[in-house]
Amino acid sequence: MNELVSVRLEDRVAVVTITNPPVNALSPGVPEGLRSSIAAAAANPAALAIVVIGAGRTFIAGADIREFGKVVSGEKLRGSLHPLLLEIEDCAKPVIMAIHGTAFGGGLEVAMAGHYRVMAPNALVGQPEVKLGIIPGAAGTQRLPRLAGVAKAVEMCAFGEPVGAREAHALGIVDAVIEGDLLAGAVAFAREAAGRPHPKTRERIEKLRDADPAIFARARQQAAKIRRGQTAPLAAIDAVESATRLSFDEGCAREAELFDQCLYSAQSKALIHAFFAERGVSKIPGVPRDAAVYEIRRAAVVGAGTMGGGITMNYANAGIPVIVKETSQEALDRGMATIHKNYANSVKKGKLSHAAVHQRLSLITPQLTYDGFDQADIIAEAVFEGMALKKQVFAEIDAVARPGCILASNTSYLDIDEIASATKRPEVVLGHHYFSPANVMRLLEIVRGKATSKDVLATSMALAKKLNKIGVLAGNARGFIGNRMLTPYLREAQFLVEEGASVEDVNQALYDFGMAMGPLAMSDLAGLDVGWRIRKEFRHLEKPGVRVPLVADRLCEMGRFGQKTGRGWSQYDENRQPSPDPETAALIEQAAREAGIERRSITREEIVDRCVLALVNEGARVLDEGIALRAADIDVVYLNGYGFPAWRGGPMFYADTVGLKTVLARIEEFRQHHSDDLWSPAPLLRRLAESGARFTDFDRQREVAAGV
Ligand code: 3HC
Ligand code: NAI
Repeated sequence: MNELVSVRLEDRVAVVTITNPPVNALSPGVPEGLRSSIAAAAANPAALAIVVIGAGRTFIAGADIREFGKVVSGEKLRGSLHPLLLEIEDCAKPVIMAIHGTAFGGGLEVAMAGHYRVMAPNALVGQPEVKLGIIPGAAGTQRLPRLAGVAKAVEMCAFGEPVGAREAHALGIVDAVIEGDLLAGAVAFAREAAGRPHPKTRERIEKLRDADPAIFARARQQAAKIRRGQTAPLAAIDAVESATRLSFDEGCAREAELFDQCLYSAQSKALIHAFFAERGVSKIPGVPRDAAVYEIRRAAVVGAGTMGGGITMNYANAGIPVIVKETSQEALDRGMATIHKNYANSVKKGKLSHAAVHQRLSLITPQLTYDGFDQADIIAEAVFEGMALKKQVFAEIDAVARPGCILASNTSYLDIDEIASATKRPEVVLGHHYFSPANVMRLLEIVRGKATSKDVLATSMALAKKLNKIGVLAGNARGFIGNRMLTPYLREAQFLVEEGASVEDVNQALYDFGMAMGPLAMSDLAGLDVGWRIRKEFRHLEKPGVRVPLVADRLCEMGRFGQKTGRGWSQYDENRQPSPDPETAALIEQAAREAGIERRSITREEIVDRCVLALVNEGARVLDEGIALRAADIDVVYLNGYGFPAWRGGPMFYADTVGLKTVLARIEEFRQHHSDDLWSPAPLLRRLAESGARFTDFDRQREVAAGV
């Protein structure tokens, strides 16, 4: 018993309550409190049985992740949870774990050491450690297969997805689902269990027998595919496999060995960084966290194209009625047909029921006028990219919107202040920049204009959460955070092919680095015409004499826009499978010859460094200019919007792991070979490198200075 864990008697059952908000993580003091509380209850003759329950919103959400950071940076490892779990399992009185909210990681491991588990109907159990680059470290890989069976345990430990109460019950992870009051149900269950012999999970072996070895081979194959490059899923599979081969104690020892390997790996540092970075983005100086100032009850969207359709779905998915306006019936029909098709696919994949789709579609009103826009709390604009059109649309919506309505543009690159100048209310204008497909991608850049009010930002951050997005605040620079950094990344990819690498070499090198796809493959997917239109819009800003990529515009002039036209950097078959395109290769060679570029053989290392360090260097400028609040915010943008490998933590964290001195030296090398204009090191990068600091240190200092 201590301030984190208390025990009281209720109906002759000792109720042990963990109170460690917000998520009852197993922070220092919680395991100790559990140990003493359970010992006290075991020694109390008035208690027939013991119930363990979490106060507040959840059971135990796992080990305290902050502690892992301390351990890998040299602090002494606190005692493992493992002995405590053995003690709980050996308790002479039955221990019933009452689960609500989430029993994740160490939380599920604690629960499995109890003799019985009961669960609220909407609770979840899971072993999500792999998402942090580690594996269960307190016998989860040994107890879970004994309860859930080997196949399900492999899946849960290797891929980290949780299961709900009904499934957990059917699998045998929990013994009962309690409708109504969980504590009362758990106490009643405990009183009944008191008279019976109580089972120890570690002694149950019936589900381990005859485990099909194909389970492990299949899981390894799947991990190679969907967790490409990651070591923890493979370690988790090894650990569960050892449960089928070794005794419980030996299996635990093997798990501990694998856990340590994972914990001390660069991958776990990167994934833990990503976990906290994602949760840190909503901390904005002067803006209250998660506090919607305006209520968003009704939305309206202008444009039902690729993005407008996805944005409309986001609102409908969140239960917010939404009007979507187009200029022609044909465009409206096309947009609605895509929305219907997307929902039909979700039904086909079993992700949504017909009834849910019907309900969501009933929230969408397609139309050709601004009727009803005066009722909207937010209007999202997603018309073609072009300043003149954007300003015209904003003037129109300014004329119809009610006071206080938020006006959000989905522009990819344009100046939010100039767009806002078309209205009489710049304080409610900002960018809500979604990523394609907008109904799937979780990133939302929330772009602050110079007049955007804090209330509008706070509402937007809260709205992002409601729409199941990760809102990242960005300043109003051309391309904001993500697209601004993408420009030099894609530039280097194109320079590399002009200098002698093949399109396939460039794509493969970055794919092998861990990117979801290579840069030129990504351009083909997004549509080369998108960048072409933007380059035309900004051509007047190009500095004379500075090298620019030569080929993309020529491909567009030939009508080769990428996947949508079947040809771009690569050629695509009817299943959108790419193959090398000899015409593109010839075009590249010709363009290089005309420009006098000497072609040479280029290593994979140079391809990766040129592209990724171009991202890092621009990221440092974005940070220095305050376009991004934190390096970690940039990482969140790249992890969630651009397919940067999570296990590398994002471009800025990756630079920290390489070492900023090394990064700076490499950039200086590129500067010597190429030009000052393209490769002069960002001043912030130089400052940090020369003082031996990291981007992570910069974030901490900026947060302290801003008081967040
Ligand atoms: N340790 C420390 N802090 C944690 C935490 C944990 N395990 N889980 C959540 N938090 C913190 C968050 O950082 C956040 O803090 P902040 O308010 O200061 O930003 C706060 O709790 C609330 O978290 P969320 O914003 O994520 O709240 P949600 O309600 O959206 O989600 C959740 C709750 C589902 C529990 C989610 O936080 C989550 O998935 N947490 C991680 C769970 C996990 O990975 N557990 C395994 C840990 S590793 C382990 O147990 C090893 C073991 O095998 C030995
Ligand atoms: P799109 O071409 O698919 O759709 C634009 C739609 O706007 C068309 O259906 C058009 O008929 C409609 N439209 C034009 N003028 C209109 C008006 N006055 N009223 C109502 N509808 C009108 O274009 P897409 O790709 O959806 O892009 C829209 C915006 O989103 C652009 O600003 C673009 O830069 C941005 N964006 C695009 C991304 C992408 O990957 N396609 C990603 C993120 C942002």
